[in-house]
Amino acid sequence: MTPPDDATLQAILDRIALEAREDPDKGRVADYIPELAAIDPDQFAIAVARPGHPTLIAGDAATPFSIQSVSKVFTLAIALGLRGDRLWERVGREPSGQAFDSVILLELERGRPRNPFINAGAIVTTDAVLSGTHEPRGALAAILSFVRDAAGDEKIHINDSVAASEIATGHRNFALAHYLLSHGNLENPPHETLGTYFHQCAIEMTCRQLANAGLFLTGCDDAPGLVSPGRIRRINALMMTCGHYDGSGDYAYRVGLPGKSGVGGGILTIVPDKASVAVWAPGLNRYGNSKLGTEAMQRLSDLTGWSVFGTAPD
Ligand code: DON
Repeated sequence: MTPPDDATLQAILDRIALEAREDPDKGRVADYIPELAAIDPDQFAIAVARPGHPTLIAGDAATPFSIQSVSKVFTLAIALGLRGDRLWERVGREPSGQAFDSVILLELERGRPRNPFINAGAIVTTDAVLSGTHEPRGALAAILSFVRDAAGDEKIHINDSVAASEIATGHRNFALAHYLLSHGNLENPPHETLGTYFHQCAIEMTCRQLANAGLFLTGCDDAPGLVSPGRIRRINALMMTCGHYDGSGDYAYRVGLPGKSGVGGGILTIVPDKASVAVWAPGLNRYGNSKLGTEAMQRLSDLTGWSVFGTAPD
C-alpha cells in the first residue's frame, strides 16, 4: 500500500471521527476515580503526528484529557535512562494476562511485577524516578519536563483535582505499594511514590499534544532524540505485548501496532518509522481500554496499511 498523502490521511481521520460519533455504543467511563466519572462520554478525537508534516487532527483534538496510564510510557523511558537494564531486576517484561490493577500475580511472584505497564510495575518505575530525583516535587518536574520536551509544548500541566481524587480513593494502589515494600521492592515511602504516581497519571494533554509527544518513539530521523534507538525498540516491544493489559493480544490482533492506553480513554500508538497517533474517547471496553479509541485505531490501521504485521486489510 502506498503511504497516504496529507489530504488522503485527513479524509481518513474525518471519516473515522464521524463513524465514532455515530456509534451508539460508547463504552463506559471509568468511575473508580470520582473526577473521571463526570467526563462526557460523547467526545472523540484523533491526531496523527509525523516528522516534517503538519499534525493532522479530527474531532475534539484541542480538548485536554487525563492521560492516566499513558504516562507510564514516559516514566519507563526516564527510569531506563536512570537505571539502565538494572531496572529489570525490579520489574519483568512479560504480559500479565490480568487487569491493570490486579494484585494476584504480585503475591505469587514475590513482589516483582510482571511488566512496567500494570499498576504494580508502574509504581516501581515511578519509584526509580523518585529515587533518582530525591523528592516527589523533583520527580514530577522531571516527568513533566520530559513530556513537555517530547511534545515541544511547555503548556502541558497536571490536573491537581484528578490527582487528589485518586489519592483519596486509590486503596488498591496503596495495597500494591505496601506489598512491594514488604518484598523490598520499593525504595521510597509508599505515600511519596504514590503521590508522584497519581500526579503523573493526572497529566492532561490534548490529542494533538499526545501525538506530538509520542514522536520520539517512532525512531524517525528528525523526531526528538530523547532515548536511544535501541531503547525505542524495547519500549515499543513492551507497548505491543503489555500496553493494553489483558487486552494486549486483542489490540495487537486488531491494530498490529505498539500502543499504550489509559483509563481516561486515551491511547498512544506508534507506527515505527512513520507516525505517532493519539486517539481519545472516554468510554472504556471490558479491559479498561478506550472502546471507540480501539475501534478507531483498527480502522486507521486497515485504511492506511499501518501495522507491523503487514498491510493487507481483512
Ligand atoms: O492507577 C490507576 O488506577 C490509574 N491512575 C491509571 C490506570 C490506568 O489508566 C489503566 N489503564 N487503562
